Amino acid sequence: MSDALLQIRNVKKWFNSKDKRLMVIDGVSFDVQEGEFISILGPSGCGKTTLLRIIAGLEKQDEGEILLRGKSISGPGQDRAMVFQDYALFPWRTVLGNVLFGLEIRKIQKKEALEKAKSFIKLVGLEGFENSYPHELSGGMRQRVALARALVCEPDILLMDEPLSALDAQTRNVMQAELVRIWEETKKTIIYVTHSIEEAVYLSDRIAVLSKRPAKLLELVNVDLERPRDRFSKEFVNLRAKIFKLIQS
Ligand SMILES: Nc1ncnc2c1ncn2[C@@H]1O[C@H](COP(=O)(O)OP(=O)(O)OP(=O)(O)O)[C@@H](O)[C@H]1O
Ligand SMILES: [Mg+2]
Repeated sequence: MSDALLQIRNVKKWFNSKDKRLMVIDGVSFDVQEGEFISILGPSGCGKTTLLRIIAGLEKQDEGEILLRGKSISGPGQDRAMVFQDYALFPWRTVLGNVLFGLEIRKIQKKEALEKAKSFIKLVGLEGFENSYPHELSGGMRQRVALARALVCEPDILLMDEPLSALDAQTRNVMQAELVRIWEETKKTIIYVTHSIEEAVYLSDRIAVLSKRPAKLLELVNVDLERPRDRFSKEFVNLRAKIFKLIQS
């Protein structure tokens, strides 16, 4: 028996496209430990989002299984929350309203919900913006709202699909550092999809490197670098180069 939080076991997935079956994921297996920050890294179109959606329970694999605390996943659940690239905020709700949303549908008592929402807004660095609307915020701030909205429901696992890729390079770097801070404060398990090698090396404890489609696991790379990480250190640059070569091969 593995004591991993999540076990991904020989997952295979095909899509029907026109008259043929397109294989997208070809037997991917790895474990995710509690509290770990793990990235799924691979070239565009290789099947990263599909794998994340399967973990979220939004998509069904054709073969293999995914176990969460030893139990097979059969659909979405409160134990997993997803953060998307396009934020997916409600434009008609304020920052506070957006963060409250998940608590409202869970029928959490109003006073408790308000306190919780405010504390998570503070955690993501948006204190003072509770009454702003999404269109009044920058991209980085919107992603902070999306993060607070996902975290406030206290899922076991946070699933993130290229959440920073719509941001400019500088904001993206700031948000990467913020994400590490928030991860350290909340001790969440994070599964993070990206096609940026630099981002994966900056953020992760481990990186699941996928091949081009159909996605196979090329290697699980350990990132044994102290945080906060220096993108220009020799070790960082060497690891980037190693993963780059791995993907090219
Ligand atoms: N619902 C669907 N029906 C048919 N084909 C699909 C469906 N969803 C994804 N695909 C195909 O599966 C492949 C993998 O898609 P996926 O979105 O998982 O890749 P990705 O690695 O997330 O790519 P990107 O880096 O561009 O986000 C692509 O070829 C895509 O066209
Ligand atoms: Mg994708």
